[in-house]
Amino acid sequence: MLSLVVNGRHVEVDATRHAPPVGLRDHAGLTGTKFGCGQPLCGACTVHVDGQPVRSCVTPVEAVANAQVTTIEG
Ligand code: FES
Repeated sequence: MLSLVVNGRHVEVDATRHAPPVGLRDHAGLTGTKFGCGQPLCGACTVHVDGQPVRSCVTPVEAVANAQVTTIEG
């Protein structure tokens, strides 16, 4: 399990089941982040990680552990 901070809230995720942070839309009910192209092209999956935009469809969830993740809801 990984502990993430999403929109200021601690969220525990199973890293094997929620590979990219875009999986948070199902796990944490944060449906504002969309899955579009699955490549880093369209930007529908963009979240902010420590204030920087990241294409979450191609970012392993391990890469955002210990970071502040902000979705469109935040
Ligand atoms: S889904 Fe299109 S950039 Fe991630």
